[in-house]
Amino acid sequence: MVAKNQFYHISLTLLFCMGFWGFQVTCRTLQDVSMYERHEEWMSRYGIVYKDPQEREKRFRIFKQNVKYIEASNNAANKPYQLGTNQFADLTNEEFVARRNRFKGHMCSSIIRSTTFKYENVTAVPTTVDWRQKGAVTPVKNQGQCDVSMYERHEEWMSRYGIVYKDPQEREKRFRIFKQNVKYIEASNNAANKPYQLGTNQFADLTNEEFVARRNRFKGHMCSSIIRSTTFKYENVTAVPTTVDWRQKGAVTPVKNQGQCGCCWAFSAVAATEGIHALTTGKLISLSEQELVDCDTKGVDQGCEGGFMDDAFKFIIKNHGLNTEANYPYKGVDGKCNAKAEAIDAATITGYEDVPVNNENALQKAVANQPVSVAIDASGSDFQFYKSGVFTGSCGTELDHGVTAVGYGISNDGGKYWLVKNSWGTEWGEEGYIRMQRGVAAQEGLCGIAMMASYPTA
Ligand SMILES: *[C@@H]1O[C@H](CO)[C@@H](O)[C@H](O)[C@H]1NC(C)=O
Ligand SMILES: *[C@@H]1O[C@H](CO)[C@@H](O)[C@H](O)[C@H]1NC(C)=O
Repeated sequence: MVAKNQFYHISLTLLFCMGFWGFQVTCRTLQDVSMYERHEEWMSRYGIVYKDPQEREKRFRIFKQNVKYIEASNNAANKPYQLGTNQFADLTNEEFVARRNRFKGHMCSSIIRSTTFKYENVTAVPTTVDWRQKGAVTPVKNQGQCDVSMYERHEEWMSRYGIVYKDPQEREKRFRIFKQNVKYIEASNNAANKPYQLGTNQFADLTNEEFVARRNRFKGHMCSSIIRSTTFKYENVTAVPTTVDWRQKGAVTPVKNQGQCGCCWAFSAVAATEGIHALTTGKLISLSEQELVDCDTKGVDQGCEGGFMDDAFKFIIKNHGLNTEANYPYKGVDGKCNAKAEAIDAATITGYEDVPVNNENALQKAVANQPVSVAIDASGSDFQFYKSGVFTGSCGTELDHGVTAVGYGISNDGGKYWLVKNSWGTEWGEEGYIRMQRGVAAQEGLCGIAMMASYPTA
C-alpha cells in the first residue's frame, strides 16, 4: 500500500515535470532553451525568485539581451576589459541607474569645493600602489538597495502629488520626514491584528506637528462654555437598521477637499445640510463652504482659522440658506463676503439639534435618520496616514476636526464602524472616507466621535 502510494506520487511528479518541459519546448526555440537554462543557473547563483511567470518572462528577455551585449563586447577586438553576467544581468541599464547610483552630482553645481590640497607639492610617486597589501582596505561591502529605493519612492510620491520643493535643502528635509513616515507606516501595516492600513498619502512629507497645525481647525478645545441644545428628535427611535449608507440614498455629494484652510467645520456643516436637504426635497445639491468661510464671520466662526458646526447651522438659518458650490465656489482662503452671491439661497434649514453627549446609541439613532456632523480628534499619525480598513486608533479626544457621519455598518470581519465623510480629497483613506470603530468601551467614542455631534433640521 505504501509502495503503491509512493509510486503514484512519483509518477504524478514525473508527469507534471514532463508536461512543464513539453510546454517550455513548444513555446521556445532550441536556442532559447539553452539561454533559458543559463538564466535559470544565474537565478540560482544569485538566489533570485520572481514574483510570477510574467515577471520571469520579462526578466528572461532582458537577461538574454544583456548576454548578447556582453558576449558581443567580449568578442570585440582591442577591448582591455571583459564584461560578465553579474547580479545586474536581469536589469535594463535604465533600471540599473535608477536603483543603484545616487551620487548627487547633478545637484552640486552651486557647492563650493575646498581649495587646499596637501599633496600639491608631492613629486615622487611609486609606479604601483595597492593599499590592500598594506592592510588599509576592508573587504568589499554591498550597499544593496539602501536609501536609494527610498529616494525613488519619494520622487514617485512627489510626482504623484505634483510636488516641487523650493530648493535642495527643503527637498532633503522633506525626504528625511518622508523616510521616517514610510518606516512608521510600514511598521504599522506589518503589525499583527490591526484591522486598518496606513498609506503614503498627500501628508507623507509632513511631521505630525505640521499636519495638525495645517489641517484641522475645529474649535473643540474652546467649547466647554457652549450651550448645547437639549431637544433630540430621535430620542424615541427604537428600530434602527444594522447598516446605513446615505451615499446609496443619494444624500451625499462627492468628497471635497478643504486644502490648507482650517475650515473643516464648514465642510462638516455643509455635508449635513446637503444631506437633510436631499432627504426632504429629493434634490442633492452641492452647497457652498466658501460662503460660510467668507460671510459667517460675525460670531465665533473664523473662516480658515476655525469654527463650529452648530454656529454654521445658526448662520445658515439666519441667512435663510446657502448658495450652491457652483455659484459660490471654494477658494481655500479667507475672502470678502460676496453679498450678491450670499443673497441667493439654494437650500436652507429651519433648525438644528445636538445629539446627547457621549452616547453612541443616540448617535446611531440620529445617523440612521440623516447625515450628522461630528467632531473628532484627527491629530494622530495613524489618522494622518489612514488608508483603509476599520480604524481602531490610536487617537485622543481633543476634538480638532469636523467631519460628517454618513452611515454605519459592520465589516466583513465583524468590526462595527461609523462611515465618515472627510474633506481631504479622495486620495486620503477609502476614496476620501474613513470607517471608524463604533461601539468602543469609552463613552466618548473613538477619537471622541460621540462628544459633539449635531444635525440640521428642515
Ligand atoms: C606648495 O609649495 C608652494 C610654493 O613653495 C607653497 O606656497 C605651498 O604652501 C605648498 N603647499 C603645501 C600644501 O605645502
Ligand atoms: C418620547 O417619548 C416621551 C414619552 O412618551 C415623550 O414625552 C417625548 O415627547 C417623546 N420625545 C419625542 C422627541 O418625541
